[in-house]
Amino acid sequence: MRVLQAAAEAVPLVKTGGLADVVGALPDALARAGVANRLLLPGFGAVRAALKAPRTVATLPCPWGGEPPRLVTGRLEPFGDAPAYVVVSPDLYERPGGLYGDPSGAAWADNHRRFAPLAWAARALARGADTRWLPDVVHAHDWHAGLVPAALSHAGLRTASVMTVHNLAYQGLFPAQAFLDLDLPAAAWGIDGVEFWGQVSFMKAGLQHAQAVSTVSPRYAQEVQDPAMGCGLDGVLRAHPGGVAGILNGVDYAVWHPRVDAYLPQRFDAADLSGKAACKADLQRSQGLRPERGAMLMAVVSRLTSQKGLDLLLQVLPQALAHGGQLVVLGQGDAALEAGFASAAQAHPGQVLLLKAHDEALAHRIFAAADLVLVPSRFEPCGLTQLYAMAYGALPLVHHVGGLADTVVDASLESLEDGQATGFAFYRFDAPSMQAALRRAQLLWTRPAQWAQMRQRAMAQRFDWDRAAQAYVALYTQAIARRSALATLG
Ligand code: ADP
Ligand code: GLC
Repeated sequence: MRVLQAAAEAVPLVKTGGLADVVGALPDALARAGVANRLLLPGFGAVRAALKAPRTVATLPCPWGGEPPRLVTGRLEPFGDAPAYVVVSPDLYERPGGLYGDPSGAAWADNHRRFAPLAWAARALARGADTRWLPDVVHAHDWHAGLVPAALSHAGLRTASVMTVHNLAYQGLFPAQAFLDLDLPAAAWGIDGVEFWGQVSFMKAGLQHAQAVSTVSPRYAQEVQDPAMGCGLDGVLRAHPGGVAGILNGVDYAVWHPRVDAYLPQRFDAADLSGKAACKADLQRSQGLRPERGAMLMAVVSRLTSQKGLDLLLQVLPQALAHGGQLVVLGQGDAALEAGFASAAQAHPGQVLLLKAHDEALAHRIFAAADLVLVPSRFEPCGLTQLYAMAYGALPLVHHVGGLADTVVDASLESLEDGQATGFAFYRFDAPSMQAALRRAQLLWTRPAQWAQMRQRAMAQRFDWDRAAQAYVALYTQAIARRSALATLG
């Protein structure tokens, strides 16, 4: 089986969040499961710089005029020998600023033009543009690749498509006139197509046309089919003939394990945690936190957006700090959240620290140093930071929702007694509930033997990519079968 992975991000080249971790790790896991798969990425500066031995296989459309993007194949340096595909267009991708927005953070006005070429590239490959490789399935990740299933199906191609929703809150919505730039037939416009309340929706295009749809945890797969969390697309999801699969993300333990992590000042594992104490001391010393070994170090490594629920943390912080402990926040984004944590840091020097940055090395060092990692998300499709926390011997404290609910066992009296607890959860999204969970964590911290036991259990959890890869293979097989059944029906 040959699978093309179409996405906007992949570590170690381009990353704004967990999508990149997933797209960076899935191809290897699939390869181990016997699936030949190749990446298709937009040619952002870092991607183009990593592309070796480039060969153009197609010139893509450019309905708005100007220099047409090219589909180029070559080797992407960090991914070994497997060829990859890159859409090369300096006009579209090589700009100052972020992947999706200008230096001020505002979304680029032409994002529909910037991501539609992923669909044209997949369509060209499905038509045989690269005589050496024809995909059986295109796996489209998130809205950036949402037009892929639509483009394939309107071209009448036999290639199957799978759409994975990493986050339904980001849909790729554009004004109706953007449709003219998408190189899709007029028939694609409509309630069964890319139209969503008078706008173009890349996400809906993917959900409508893919032969199989999935999300990144079983619980989120249920949640998005409910109006409360379906972001207006719950009906489309409920109506999908193949249902919505929930395939939990894995952890790439070659990158995210304290025994091998090159970013850490000292490595460690569950058998010998002295390195963890050293990582904590090092972070406290280097970042200006008080060098208190016994203080519970709480950490947040997160995009600062409303999804992540950190406004609750700001509400409960004064009370939490009154019981002792320290807080480090690594993240940037929403101005009000940045200001909230900055003023907490100012009010509690040496106890609260805001690191306003996106810094991969610091993220690793913080998981290694932390005792408790806070993930109070309003919603969370999967969440990776609670998984990294457990691997690094920090207990997660989470809102019981989405992938957080699927991966963290709350420390109740029963789960502690039964040896099941791996973290702390709160069940209602409000300050008193989070406060109560934090208080439980703080009380358990004062019982070192119990804390150590729970930490051992958390560190022993395994969220392997191989299991997820098997599930994706089953989904690809389903999509291929559905595609050929549709072709037979004409
Ligand atoms: P999301 O994709 O919604 O942001 P995830 O938990 O799935 O949430 O993934 C977040 C990823 O981004 C993790 O790899 C995490 O370590 C990383 N990350 C988040 N904020 C930062 C930051 N400020 N600096 C470095 N890495 C970060
Ligand atoms: C999204 C989600 C996050 C998930 C990640 C990778 O960014 O917000 O929950 O872990 O994608 O699938």
